[in-house]
Amino acid sequence: MTVRNLFLLPGDGIGPETMGEVRKIIAYMNEAKDAGFVTDEGLVGGSAYDAHGAAISDADMEKAMAADAVLFGAVGGPKWDAVPYEVRPEAGLLRLRKDLKLFANLRPAICYPALASASSLKPELVEGLDILIIRELTGGVYFGEPKEIVDIGNGQKRAIDTQVYDTYEIERIGGVAFEMARTRSNRVCSMEKRNVMKSGVLWNQVITATHKEKYSDVQLEHMLADAGGMQLVRQPKQFDVIVTDNLFGDMLSDVAAMLTGSLGMLPSASLGAPNALTGKRKALYEPVHGSAPDIAGKGIANPIAMIASFAMCLRYSFGMVAEADALEKAIANVLDSGIRTGDIMSAGSRQVGTAEMGDAILAEFKALSA
Ligand code: IPM
Ligand code: MG
Repeated sequence: MTVRNLFLLPGDGIGPETMGEVRKIIAYMNEAKDAGFVTDEGLVGGSAYDAHGAAISDADMEKAMAADAVLFGAVGGPKWDAVPYEVRPEAGLLRLRKDLKLFANLRPAICYPALASASSLKPELVEGLDILIIRELTGGVYFGEPKEIVDIGNGQKRAIDTQVYDTYEIERIGGVAFEMARTRSNRVCSMEKRNVMKSGVLWNQVITATHKEKYSDVQLEHMLADAGGMQLVRQPKQFDVIVTDNLFGDMLSDVAAMLTGSLGMLPSASLGAPNALTGKRKALYEPVHGSAPDIAGKGIANPIAMIASFAMCLRYSFGMVAEADALEKAIANVLDSGIRTGDIMSAGSRQVGTAEMGDAILAEFKALSA
C-alpha cells in the first residue's frame, strides 16, 4: 500500500480547531479507502515559542522537510505580541517557506454560488468568480537583505527592507502561472510597479520574454499592481490567473479573498520545484486566513479554508484528483444546503459551529465517494 506522509502543524488560535476537522477526513480516508496517510504532528508559531523558545524547532523543521506534504493551520495572537522579532510566530511560517523552497503560492479565489450574497461586493460582480492568484513566496521584500533598523545619529533611525528579484525567480514563477493558465481559461495577468521600481521593470521584461519563448499560446496582459487592486474590486471576473511578487501577492490575495464572502473560505498551496529524480514537489497547504484569536477556542471558526487546503493537498501532492474534486464538491453541496458558520451566515440559513460544519462536509464527502 502507498504510504503518504503528512506533517501537521496546527499552530495557534483557531488552527487546532480547524485542523481537527481535517483529521476526521484523513481518518475516514484511511479506514474506508486505504489511503495510507501516516500523520505526525508538531508545533509552530506561538505554541512552539512557548514550548521551545523558537517559532519552530529544528526537529520539527526536519520532519517538515521529510514529509510528502505539510498541513499548516495558523500562527500568532496577542499573547505573543511582545516576543522578540526573530522568534515572533510568523517567523515559523517564513522559515518553512524559505527552507522548503516553496516559491510558488497558489491562492484560488472561488465564489461559491451560495455565498455570492456574503461578499461585500454586489452579488452579480462575484457570482461564479474563479481566479487563481500565483504569488511568488520566497523572494522579494520579505527576504531581501539588508533588512534592518540602524541608528543614524541625531536621535534618528533608518529602517531598511530590500526588494530584490533575480531573473530565475521571475522565470520560474511565470512558468507556474502559464502552466496553470493552460489548465484553466488560458489567461495570465502579471502585476508589478515598473513605473517606480527596478524590480518591476525586470519582472515585466522576464515575464514578457518567458511568455514569448515558451508560452505564446497563453494570453498575457500586464497591469500595474495598484491598478490591478482597483480592477479586482471593480470587475473581478475579468481575471483568470494573476501572477505577482511576494508583497503585492500578500495584499491582492486578501482583497480577492474578501470578494468570495469571507476570509474563512480560501485555501492555498505553497509548492517547491519538482525533484529532478522523483518528480515530487515539497509542499505546504494552509488557509489564507490567520489565527483569529478573538474567536479561538469557542468552536465557531469556519473550517472550510482548512478543509479546502487539504483538498489542494490531495490534488497537488498525491494526484488524488477524484478525491479532491469530491471534497470540493462536498463543500459546495453543504453550502447549498444552507449550513453556515457565523462568518458567512445569512438570513434563512442554519448557523453551526466548527465541528458540525466539518461533520456535514465529511458526511457529504462520504456520500459522494461511496
Ligand atoms: C499570508 C500571511 C503571512 C504573509 C504572514 C502571516 C507572515 O499574511 O500568508 O498571507 O505575510 O505572507
Ligand atoms: Mg497575508
